[in-house]
Amino acid sequence: MDARDLLRSVRTAGSADGWRATASAWRRQRTDARDLPRRGTERARVPGAAQEAESLPGGGRVRFARSVLRVRVAVGGAVFCSWDGADPDPSYALADGRPEADLRAVLEPDKDGWRVVSERVTVLVSPHGAVEIRTPGGVLLRRELPPRWWEPTGGAPGAGSRWVQRSETPADARVYGLGGRAVGPRLPAGGYRLWNTDPDGSFEPGDDPLYITMPVQLVVADAGCHLIFHDSTWDGRVTLRDGEEGAGSGHDRPGGSELRMDGGPLRYWVITGTPSRVLNRWTALTGRPALPPRWALGHHHSRWGFGSEREVRRVVAGYREHGLPLSALHLDIDHFDGHKVFTVDKRHFPDLPGLAAELADEGIRTVSIVDPAVKAEPGVPVYDSGTREAAFVKDARGQEVHGVVWPGTAAFPDFTDPQVRSWWGRLYAERLDQGFAGFWHDMNEPVSFASFGENTLPRSARHSLEGRGGDHREAHNVYGLAMARAGYEGLRELRPEQRPFLFSRSGWAGMQRYGGTWSGDVATGWSGLRASLALVIGLGLCGVPYSGPDVGGFTGSPSPELYLRWFQMAAYLPFFRTHSAITAGRREPWEFGPEVLEHARAALTERMRLLPYLESLAHIAHRTGAPYVRPLWWNAPGDRALRENGDAFLLGDALLVAPVLEPGSVTRAVRLPRGLWYDTATGRGHRGPGQVLLDAPLGRIPVLARAGSLLPVTGADGATELEVWAPRLGRAGGGVVLTGDPDGWESARMERFTTRWAGGEVVVERDGADSAEPVGYRVRVRGSAS
Ligand code: NOJ
Repeated sequence: MDARDLLRSVRTAGSADGWRATASAWRRQRTDARDLPRRGTERARVPGAAQEAESLPGGGRVRFARSVLRVRVAVGGAVFCSWDGADPDPSYALADGRPEADLRAVLEPDKDGWRVVSERVTVLVSPHGAVEIRTPGGVLLRRELPPRWWEPTGGAPGAGSRWVQRSETPADARVYGLGGRAVGPRLPAGGYRLWNTDPDGSFEPGDDPLYITMPVQLVVADAGCHLIFHDSTWDGRVTLRDGEEGAGSGHDRPGGSELRMDGGPLRYWVITGTPSRVLNRWTALTGRPALPPRWALGHHHSRWGFGSEREVRRVVAGYREHGLPLSALHLDIDHFDGHKVFTVDKRHFPDLPGLAAELADEGIRTVSIVDPAVKAEPGVPVYDSGTREAAFVKDARGQEVHGVVWPGTAAFPDFTDPQVRSWWGRLYAERLDQGFAGFWHDMNEPVSFASFGENTLPRSARHSLEGRGGDHREAHNVYGLAMARAGYEGLRELRPEQRPFLFSRSGWAGMQRYGGTWSGDVATGWSGLRASLALVIGLGLCGVPYSGPDVGGFTGSPSPELYLRWFQMAAYLPFFRTHSAITAGRREPWEFGPEVLEHARAALTERMRLLPYLESLAHIAHRTGAPYVRPLWWNAPGDRALRENGDAFLLGDALLVAPVLEPGSVTRAVRLPRGLWYDTATGRGHRGPGQVLLDAPLGRIPVLARAGSLLPVTGADGATELEVWAPRLGRAGGGVVLTGDPDGWESARMERFTTRWAGGEVVVERDGADSAEPVGYRVRVRGSAS
């Protein structure tokens, strides 16, 4: 037992839940002791010397003494490498199976090895199995050293091979991603676990891992950017090491990473190019981000513990009476009957469809939590139907695996089974009948409460894995992803005319196909605020653009100032939701005094004004994978100072947002990328690159607009207008407007505009239109050129 285990067992001791969690932890340990294949002795293996090579479509194969390496460049430029004959599929990450090979890329002999030259990237293979990824100009982006495997010799079959893959990157390289982390977005040197985990209670910057882990690294260096994805779902650990530059001595110490995996194929994808190209290709490979319905871009209010229809009405009335816009109201597990998923507590929520309809009349959608764990008790309809379908995860002896979650003893659907997914998907019919418009997947790491050890299923638990069969070591990290797929596909069947709105606490590479996510239980505190920003930016760089934190933090009671600063930041994040624990203090904007209320109102008003811009960004993310929220280096990956930055972000191409992340601050030092930036509050221009000190009174956080940008906003009369920020004299600019079906499938309309100076004023023209033609929107020019 480590200190955390001890704390957990002390906290839960004595209560009925505590005893259950202790019993479940013992059960889990016993099951694994009995069923988990023993590793026994192991033998290490490295590829050895190269023996022969052959050319194949898109690249080729190099045979080494003790392994074989396959290199295959796909159309679009993504490079696939694998050892021991691993194929790109089956894969939980890939959207449509393996992409076609780029037939122009061939393996050919090089100085003392082989090379594959393609339009975007050159791959070099050394005679001992090092793989170098270079730019077409020959500059090194990454070197993967020969891997090493440990294979069980005396152990039981199924023990799997562990492997390690070390790599080197240029000394100046910086790493982002690895899923949703509590630090960053630039990930400092150190270890990061790849095992989706509920941190239990709440998390802060030092906590790792969290709910979404992904073996996805976005690496930014002077030489260029690349993304590397190691496609194995097993438990693993990434250790990052910073490089050191030899101050012109020519003796740089490269940066690097070490990836240790407990199993799974050794295969990886590398995508090179500008950040926007990398995200574009990455989401072409793993699926474009689902487009949220328009209403999901407004403000959401949630709480664990509304407890009754009356309380919901009271909160909604508060929004109405204070003149605060609200788009969605979320119901947590307290509206279930005895915490049982797909049920309603009729005593406290006697007429949910009525309540939902009433809210819908005011333009407020209701969103329901959905937990995977099903109360394991005969007579519970979902349990009975799941048992009939053989839907629940079993152990190696064929017994249902039981854990403990909110409803008590619970069984867990095996979402890696296509039949189970379709059974589960049909269950959302009950939620739709209750009037819910959106769905919030929780506890799907999956969690099973435990007083000690891992708070999840036994590693030996069996899973279908799409019919291949395997155990929880392989299925764990994709449990949430597969649940998201079940919900998404079910909703598409049940309500085909509407785009599903779904967000999921856990997930893996490719989860964006089904929806978004949120921070999970971020601790209330200034460090939690910072962590929640790092998490949103990092996830966006892994292809998951729609996310946001629990405004105010999940736990305790934020000070009015902290609440406000959180609210102000989140107003510029894709998913803008206040939420808190059942034991936490209030989170309604009017609960923090009149001053906070006024400032929160201003933030909400600005959010609503920016809705057309956010909608455009949602479409752009859906079409290209570019996240709404981007790190400051997005358009300037060569700017080293920006690579270190973690306290500000770009919202699309036009805006730079600098939240206040410290108590008592009324100014903000803001690092600007190259170009001219207008403080949107004062209209004053500031030149980047460099740092400026801006006012950040309690009423607002600094937001800057890029000179020359154009963004659609809601005008005072409700009509969309174009806000144009004057380009620098003699320069041009522009922007796009995408708008479409609010919640259906009709494809969006895209209009592109150019801004430029003509005769002493800024003119706006629609691309493809005659310059005499009106642009079709009211235009407001702001900022004065300098
Ligand atoms: C854990 C989730 O992270 C949190 O948002 C939710 O309120 C609780 N589970 C209760 O459902």
